[in-house]
Amino acid sequence: MSSVKQIGVVGGGQMGSGIAQVAAMNGIHVCLFDVDPPALSKASASVSASIARLVSKAQLSQSEGADALQRVRFTSNLEDFHQADFIIEAIVESEDIKKRLLLQLEKIAKSSAIFASNTSSISITRLAAATSRPHQVIGMHFFNPPPVMKLIEIVRGAQTSDETFAATKALSERLGKKVITSRDFSGFIVNRILMPMINEAFFALYTGVATKEDIDTGMKLGTNHPMGPLQLADFIGLDVCLSIMKVLHAGLGENKYAPCPLLVQYVDAGRLGKKQGIGKNKFAGEGGIKKC
Ligand code: 3HC
Repeated sequence: MSSVKQIGVVGGGQMGSGIAQVAAMNGIHVCLFDVDPPALSKASASVSASIARLVSKAQLSQSEGADALQRVRFTSNLEDFHQADFIIEAIVESEDIKKRLLLQLEKIAKSSAIFASNTSSISITRLAAATSRPHQVIGMHFFNPPPVMKLIEIVRGAQTSDETFAATKALSERLGKKVITSRDFSGFIVNRILMPMINEAFFALYTGVATKEDIDTGMKLGTNHPMGPLQLADFIGLDVCLSIMKVLHAGLGENKYAPCPLLVQYVDAGRLGKKQGIGKNKFAGEGGIKKC
């Protein structure tokens, strides 16, 4: 495929709006779709605020900021994707919903369009098999927050073509990201390693090895991570961490991937983390459920 001129992003949440911002700041026209008008307004406000912050820190000039903003169009009409060369979905982590979206997109998108999924753990091979264009389906896993994190993990499904892979790699590099490539197995590379670490931190808390502060400080200062594993779980969302652990457990079939009961209990209690506005640097369990 020749150079990507227009990208469609599906999903106006934190990942979708961050991906749209990164594309616009790298000179690419983006159409950001969300089915929910309030989510679309929130996405628009978040992209504007993030670009304004970069301008205020002189990391972008006024005109670069204005140009980037102009490149993003917000829409609640999926038909607007008919000219997109490359479509990235960043919607809810549900295999059924993603498959339904792909079926809708293949009716609208041009025949050469590539469909990339930002899924953190769903099989690209299975998503691709639901479409009539499995060679043009690929995983393009961004990390939160997309404007800051330097990595894209590309996941090749069993039928992903070399052309689709090459175009995705070229686009990722245009976005200023370092690329790693994973085969399509549960958790890919990063979450396969990260989530068991987070799960183990919950086990350390659950079994009374240490306080949450000492677990996080230990990993921050002992291994130079920017956040401790419990704070990171809070940042990612405990529900997301649990759902990825379940995928690892089901897909890789070993007991070492079984989710920690404390993580399950926090999620059951609806304590999911930062996205609920519990507060910066506050762990979801704080002031809530007591450990055993
Ligand atoms: N958008 C744009 N810029 C942002 C931002 C956002 N959402 N959040 C933070 N930033 C920028 C800030 O403006 C600041 O820039 P500056 O250094 O030029 O001033 C810089 O990032 C640092 O931000 P802060 O000073 O506010 O806060 P921190 O120093 O605590 O950094 C952090 C915040 C970048 C989130 C850092 O704590 C970090 O890197 N944490 C780990 C994040 C991580 O591991 N992400 C991956 C999660 S796993 C994942 O996404 C996979 C999924 O499948 C689960």
